[in-house]
Amino acid sequence: MKVVLSGMRPTGRMHVGHLKGVLENWVKLQENYKCYFEVADWHALTDEPTRNREVLRNTLDMVKDWLAVGIDPKKSVIFRQSLVPQHAEIHLIFSMLVSVNRLLRNPTFKEKVSELRKKKSEIKLSLNLENLSVEGEVGGIVEFIKGEDKEKGEKFLRGVIGRIKEEVLERLSFLDFDDSLIPSEISYGFLGYPVLQAADILIYKGELVPVGEDQLPHLELSREIARDFNRIYGEVFPIPEPLLTEIPKILGIDGRKMSKSYNNAIFISDTPEEITQKVKKSITDPMKIRKGDPGRPEICPIFYLHKAFNPDESYEIEENCRKGVLGCVDCKNRIAGKLISALEPYREKAGELSDDLIMDVIREGSKVARERAEETVEEVRRVLWSGS
Ligand code: TRP
Repeated sequence: MKVVLSGMRPTGRMHVGHLKGVLENWVKLQENYKCYFEVADWHALTDEPTRNREVLRNTLDMVKDWLAVGIDPKKSVIFRQSLVPQHAEIHLIFSMLVSVNRLLRNPTFKEKVSELRKKKSEIKLSLNLENLSVEGEVGGIVEFIKGEDKEKGEKFLRGVIGRIKEEVLERLSFLDFDDSLIPSEISYGFLGYPVLQAADILIYKGELVPVGEDQLPHLELSREIARDFNRIYGEVFPIPEPLLTEIPKILGIDGRKMSKSYNNAIFISDTPEEITQKVKKSITDPMKIRKGDPGRPEICPIFYLHKAFNPDESYEIEENCRKGVLGCVDCKNRIAGKLISALEPYREKAGELSDDLIMDVIREGSKVARERAEETVEEVRRVLWSGS
């Protein structure tokens, strides 16, 4: 049986995006492969070292949902990365095989850098523009205009400042990545994130890695590391392949990407009341005000939920929404019912799983993982030092 490895950082309760994008796929894979599913708790610290405080609770909540939807500890190895310290040794050795330049080119890294730089320049900019008004320039200009309507003049001016600020930010975000300007929040560990991920995969001799498109660059790096290690020290690792999973688009109830941190998620273990409330609160097409108005399903979170949880009717719903025959209230009622019946068995199952039981599952799985990992580490040490 081929070895599958996948993992998630411990983010706590799983939402319907995780269910459709990742977990349903894992549940199927465990029938045909030797699966390792990892709680990547060290990875959770790479961008925020104080996240250690949340890791235990989030791990328990996350793994509880894994089991509730059908990940089976009898079939798959469920483990916590930090309980397999062998990963750290492999990570260290791998870190010698990757150039810093290679890591600086990693898209996830570059995104984080520009996000932080943008945030910082935003703060600086807003301070400067605030100073502008504090120092009386706004007032000065208003005086200068000498209009009767001072209030209107000031409002106008603030509008202009706002637009200048937007314009400057827009331009800043397009500045080329300059590696001399790595924000100080970014740690050495964060730069090495994909190297640690390579260790996760290769230590179990993972052959297939189910991931979404965003993780492909990381997997490419794992492949490079495996090839280089094998060439320099001796054949130890298979070259892992991505198992690209089509991740259906699911939006949060505010129209942004669904995420716990945005407070816009529908969780697998939400009660029927919570589901109904969230669906009711959800945005739809803002141009569709009344039932008769035509809607644009492609910007509506409710429509994407229909596609994922009500595929049989989603075509009809799309048509009737566009024509304006279907109103948002009806459309929402229909998806709430589907969500409630789809999620109910998972919520019930999760309710039966105690923290203690989850702890036991993780402890057992991590023991199995440790034994497997130790075998690979011994092999690595052997080929590494046999040359001396
Ligand atoms: N980087 C992955 C993510 O953010 C999590 C992860 C850690 C992972 N180690 C892995 C995924 C190994 C696949 C294989 O989603």
